[in-house]
Amino acid sequence: MEDREISDILIHWYEGNKRDLPWRKTSDPYLIWISEIILQQTRVVQGLEYFNRFTERFPNVAALAGADEDEVMKYWQGLGYYSRARNLHAAARQIMNDFGGVFPRTREEVLSLRGIGDYTAAAICSFAYRLSYAAVDGNVFRVLARLFDIDLPIDGGEGKKYFTALAQSLLDERRPDLFNQAMMEFGALQCVPKSPDCESCPLNGKCLGLSARRVERLPVKNGKTVVKPRYFNYLYVHGQGMTLLSKRMGNDIWRNLYEFPLIETERAVTWEELSGMVVFQELFDGIENIEIVREYVAKKHVLSHRVIFPVFYEIRIDSFSRSMGKYLKVPDDRVGEYAVSRLIQSYLEVRDGLLF
Ligand code: ADE
Repeated sequence: MEDREISDILIHWYEGNKRDLPWRKTSDPYLIWISEIILQQTRVVQGLEYFNRFTERFPNVAALAGADEDEVMKYWQGLGYYSRARNLHAAARQIMNDFGGVFPRTREEVLSLRGIGDYTAAAICSFAYRLSYAAVDGNVFRVLARLFDIDLPIDGGEGKKYFTALAQSLLDERRPDLFNQAMMEFGALQCVPKSPDCESCPLNGKCLGLSARRVERLPVKNGKTVVKPRYFNYLYVHGQGMTLLSKRMGNDIWRNLYEFPLIETERAVTWEELSGMVVFQELFDGIENIEIVREYVAKKHVLSHRVIFPVFYEIRIDSFSRSMGKYLKVPDDRVGEYAVSRLIQSYLEVRDGLLF
């Protein structure tokens, strides 16, 4: 049967081409879960380093659930999409509370965990328990769109359903784990987004996209993502060996990460405009000596739905004002212990002269 043939070719290709990755050598659902969450928005090379460090510190559900959230965030620092780390931590506690500390074994139960959607549930259940669920990620969308020459947008509801059903129909029920790994690896290494080497592809005789000369144009995306510009004016305020930090709260990017006092503005502002603002004057109210050490205009910081135009002002003071009480006062040499965004991290590196 044609479907089985495709699956056989993919699995055969996988056996000869797969990368040696730690999460492929285990059937521990905890380790597989961590790897899948890391790999959702992170490339394998970078993810590998984080996976090793994270699982060394938090080797099982109980260790993760027992940790302080700040520490979990610190281990995630630099990876981006920080809700992944918050959800991992919350889900570990859910497993302790609702499942007696044992990783759940059915798709429905796995889906009930924070931060786990269809893709991750299918990946965990197929890799750890060999349950027959097709795991459809971006790589798999691309492989299927090309192989079957389908121009349904992959970022729409209809496309997602269609591709998931198609992957499910191709899945080899005797070895769903291998099938899913093979599909993903094939997308990551062979059926790559740009200039795939179709000549060397084991599926080139069956690829409808290739025979229609549409490979480069597939998959199709709606691409409706709106990118909103934001203007972040950071005040790196320090004095008496202490630095001001604050923890981001609310429903916004970088929640629970630390940063310098921030004044966000509707547009780019100059130092004169910023220092004339009421929030600024309130913050420094009553301080005699304020030295503006330097202004650093960082390059724009691009996130999936935001582009941030950051400016850092280093300000040295000789005393702290009353209104600074709402910030944390952290010894200068302990700032590095706090989990910060990549933006703040790169500023700290520039400041310490590591980059330049
Ligand atoms: N991307 C998502 N899951 C993956 C996996 N298990 N192996 C390699 N890349 C992946």
